[in-house]
Amino acid sequence: MQYYSLAVIPGDGVGPEVMKEALNILHVIEELHGGMKFDSQTFDWNCDYYVKHGNMMPANGLEILQDFDAILFGAVGSPLVPDHISVWELILPIRRRFEQYVNMRPIKLLHGLESPLRNKGHDDLDFVVIRENTEGEYTNMGGRLYQGLPYEMALQNNVFTRFGTERIIQYAYDYAEHHRRKNVTAATKSNAMNFTMTFWDEIVKEVSGKYPDIHTNLYHVDALAAYFVTSPERFDVVVASNLFGDILSDLGGAIVGGLGIGPSGNINPEKKYPSMFEPVHGSAPDIAGKGIANPIAQIWSVAMMLDHLGFKEAYDLILDSIEKVLIDGVFRTPDLGGDASTRELGNAIANTLKKTA
Ligand code: NAI
Ligand code: MG
Repeated sequence: MQYYSLAVIPGDGVGPEVMKEALNILHVIEELHGGMKFDSQTFDWNCDYYVKHGNMMPANGLEILQDFDAILFGAVGSPLVPDHISVWELILPIRRRFEQYVNMRPIKLLHGLESPLRNKGHDDLDFVVIRENTEGEYTNMGGRLYQGLPYEMALQNNVFTRFGTERIIQYAYDYAEHHRRKNVTAATKSNAMNFTMTFWDEIVKEVSGKYPDIHTNLYHVDALAAYFVTSPERFDVVVASNLFGDILSDLGGAIVGGLGIGPSGNINPEKKYPSMFEPVHGSAPDIAGKGIANPIAQIWSVAMMLDHLGFKEAYDLILDSIEKVLIDGVFRTPDLGGDASTRELGNAIANTLKKTA
């Protein structure tokens, strides 16, 4: 028997609702597999915690998480706490401290769903966006000066290190090789950002030279975004800086079925620290408490976690079961045009999983 320790942070709003269904799926997988066991511990670090204690997690929160094999995250955010606090004080410290420098989002149109792109189907929409997750445009380096005066100013610095840039591009090529993907597309903007992005381009050229069998495209990010819509079939692996990757992955999510579906992984490839898996969506305060949130994004996040830990067949089984339920079409939450509850859709996936295995 292989044991894994799992830190569970359900968070706010719909986070705990979808987490329940995802953990149920994990239990079904444990039973079907028979050789793995997850020992999970739940942490109530969220906006209510902040209101009570004045911070999003205890001072030794990162030390506590450090010893886990993986972290499963729901979503944070509440009208009671400014968003920059909930994000900066919980999610970003975890990503940085645990060197989760890869943010991975599969952009895959599941069977049973339609893309909002006319005439684009499953074969056209199947790629991944690999986003740099620790530096680039999202640094808290900068400042404000002369506030309230006519010549007030704000400055936010971009930070691209050779170490950080090389490792994300290297990861994209390794991923492509390992998954037999034919091309890697790097998002640039070196025509306008003449220091950071020319540096990025140089490193793309250096790294790509080591992979003669993989085709490289270097596209300016604005044109690249348009290609997501007009010709998504050209992509296999897309690698981008923090800001560009953030925008591209949300656009990617939108062309394959919306916020209730998309998962993400914040990955420390060396496995020196735990990686964190979470849905792309937030706490959805507009539907929280109604029991109608779509649990698929959180369930798919569990599948990504299993894949990361070496259980690719469990990943495939879960994806297969989600697709079967979607094709069947009986249990759909309101965001997918149905009237099923979170629980009903979660149960339908769990039951299908038991039958499929
Ligand atoms: P959101 O993703 O929470 O909601 C956007 C829209 O998508 C809403 O109409 C919502 O009902 C819908 N939606 C989201 N998840 C859904 C699901 N599972 N099933 C069905 N519909 C779903 O984004 P929004 O409204 O911009 O932010 C709300 C809060 O979440 C804010 O406090 C924000 O800071 C936080 N947030 C947190 C994230 C995280 O924890 N990683 C990511 C994005 C936002
Ligand atoms: Mg985003």
